[in-house]
Amino acid sequence: EEFNFDIKSSEKGIFEHFMLKEIHEQPTVIRRIMKGYIHDSSININQSLLNDLKQSSRIYILAAGTSMHAGIVGKKIIEDLIKKPVEVHIASEFAYNTPLIDPNAFFILISQSGETADLRTCLTKLKKQDYKTLTITNVITSTLARESLYALEIFAGPEIAVASTKAYVAQIAMLFILAYALSDKAIDIQYELSKTAQAMENFLLSDSHIRDLVVKYINTKHAFYIGRGMDYATSLEAALKLKEISYIHTEGFAAGELKHGTIALIEDKTPVIAIISHESINLNTRSNLEETVSRGAIPIVITLESLKSDGDDIILEDVHPLLTPILTILPAQLIAYYASYELGYDIDKPRNLAKSVTVE
Ligand code: G6P
Repeated sequence: EEFNFDIKSSEKGIFEHFMLKEIHEQPTVIRRIMKGYIHDSSININQSLLNDLKQSSRIYILAAGTSMHAGIVGKKIIEDLIKKPVEVHIASEFAYNTPLIDPNAFFILISQSGETADLRTCLTKLKKQDYKTLTITNVITSTLARESLYALEIFAGPEIAVASTKAYVAQIAMLFILAYALSDKAIDIQYELSKTAQAMENFLLSDSHIRDLVVKYINTKHAFYIGRGMDYATSLEAALKLKEISYIHTEGFAAGELKHGTIALIEDKTPVIAIISHESINLNTRSNLEETVSRGAIPIVITLESLKSDGDDIILEDVHPLLTPILTILPAQLIAYYASYELGYDIDKPRNLAKSVTVE
């Protein structure tokens, strides 16, 4: 039965670390969330939740860390599919520096653990003001799931490595399914998500080229990920992965913004990894990458088959334009994993970090 995670969910099995196991589980995670919510082509989500979302005039997404990055991707997906404005806020900021809120707001809290203190503070305040809330979580018995009005489970299975991977892609898939349920767009959701899972699997079949790349450039003090639009969101998550487990100072940057100051940090042989998943930003991001190359950077491109050029390093299959973030994050997760591996760090338990932060 697909929802009873077998005992092996909390064992590493053939993998040396939980993080690598969880990276490789991601195609299965996508298929499992599909089974959970998509039956034939109809979506199985609580109707009053859908009605409340439809009736709201603005959606606020609150989250922390990796879940916040899933929220930024989710904003793009929701705005594209249902044409309703979405704001994404860092939970710890929202809690005490609350922005002006649309009276007809709906709140989505995203949390792998469902226990993050910053979000619990937000939820307490929102409930006092009678706002409608949904928690998207991996732990349906968690505090946030229990205390919010609605909850949706992402079915990623227990995530043991501190650096979140499979929960992130499941959160994005959940937001896509939810937005699809609210939209009138003709998307073959079953087909598009299956195709994405297959593309993930195909990419994960051989990761030796990623490891070689990491070995080549591991001796660096800094690294940058750049991208525009959805790829900017992916850059933020990609940078967080690398810095949190390899301790290499990494920034995720909007590709066009780098030149307005931060490009000063580019030194000889600083790796700059550009994520390019859309035709409309392809040339601009590539010229931003060139700007760094002329300052000594080593360019690496993560892109899709249809957008590749001669010098491309990491190529993924084409998937639905709103699902590319589920795929483009995979090479970055592996870059982080192998960087930490090569440097000899404790991959699953990085220094200074906790899986779930229950203090503000
Ligand atoms: C901690 C973890 C991060 C995680 C963040 C939010 O800082 O180290 O990996 O993204 O909390 O956690 P949540 O459980 O709310 O998604």
